Amino acid sequence: MSKAPQKHKGDPETTGHSWDGIEEFNNPLPRWWLWTFYACIIWAIGYTIAYPAWPGIKSATSGVLGWSTRGDVAQDIAAVNEANAAINARLVSTELTEVAAEPDLNSYAVSAGAAVFKTWCAQCHGSGAAGAKGYPNLLDDDWLWGGDIEAIHYTVTHGVRNEDDGDARYSQMPAFGRDELLSDEEIDQVVNFVMSLSGSAQDGTMVEPGSVVFADNCASCHMDDGTGDREQGAPNLTDAIWLYGGDYDTIKETVVNARFGVMPAWGLRLSEHEIRAAALYVHQLGGGE
Ligand code: HEC
Ligand code: HEC
Repeated sequence: MSKAPQKHKGDPETTGHSWDGIEEFNNPLPRWWLWTFYACIIWAIGYTIAYPAWPGIKSATSGVLGWSTRGDVAQDIAAVNEANAAINARLVSTELTEVAAEPDLNSYAVSAGAAVFKTWCAQCHGSGAAGAKGYPNLLDDDWLWGGDIEAIHYTVTHGVRNEDDGDARYSQMPAFGRDELLSDEEIDQVVNFVMSLSGSAQDGTMVEPGSVVFADNCASCHMDDGTGDREQGAPNLTDAIWLYGGDYDTIKETVVNARFGVMPAWGLRLSEHEIRAAALYVHQLGGGE
């Protein structure tokens, strides 16, 4: 049998529950706590009216203040653009060749250009700009279309072989095998000749006849000595730097089916100061002329 709990005078009511003789006082909640609780409820109602809150099927209620995280970001971006407006205007109005002479403008352009490059160029040219098969390395001094700042600016603005910009750089190597411009034997010969230009041919006996095929079919773009032509974006074949690859099979694939590297025209997507920044960034990567 449990002993009945002792009662004292002035004790509050109990809840009436009893566990093994232990009972529970029914103390009222403290005032300060209760009022804080009510205040929270009122504040929460106000908040859900003022700010985006209740989820709907497609989006949440937008709130009477019209605030949104997107709007916040847009405002931040506008603020940055406004802060940079003056220097961007200067970048656009300064001759590209003169930018290097103005250190503050130059360092702004290069760091802005690095950001543009990360966003728009790295997926093809690599985050370090070292390129990949079919996407040229922009760190070296081997240029398809030209490595001075004006030439780089032109390439970035108009792109290469795209259909969107009438001024895009354009050329087209013929597909010598697919279109039966050369016989299989002639292709074997010329591939060996091309390999001999930068080192060793796979089959030395084919180099001599290959040089004739080359002079007749390739020299108009790649030049007599194979050093290429920037007017036509025809790569230098003598420097052991390959856009697509210098092994027998890859060169043969190039000669049989040709290549058609396409780069977008950034003039249609980015503003002039962004393009200039990107061009200056690429130019100072190491290979700029
Ligand atoms: C969709 C892929 C792609 C993107 C994105 C791209 N490029 Fe290119 N880029 C190419 C290809 C392909 C070529 C080579 C075209 C050719 O074969 O002549 C090229 C060529 C170039 C060249 C000429 C190199 C030379 O040797 O003359 C420059 C400079 C260049 N890109 C800069 C940029 C910059 C700056 C950006 C970003 C604003 C960019 N590219 C974005 C694909 C791309
Ligand atoms: C009309 C001009 C033209 C002619 C003619 C031409 N080429 Fe090309 N060649 C190019 C261009 C342009 C490219 C680059 C294509 C690209 O990047 O999309 C190229 C690329 C190449 C490449 C790839 C180089 C690399 O770095 O990977 C090889 C190899 C090549 N040509 C060999 C030949 C041979 C061999 C012939 C003759 C049988 C020939 N070309 C004829 C324009 C020409």
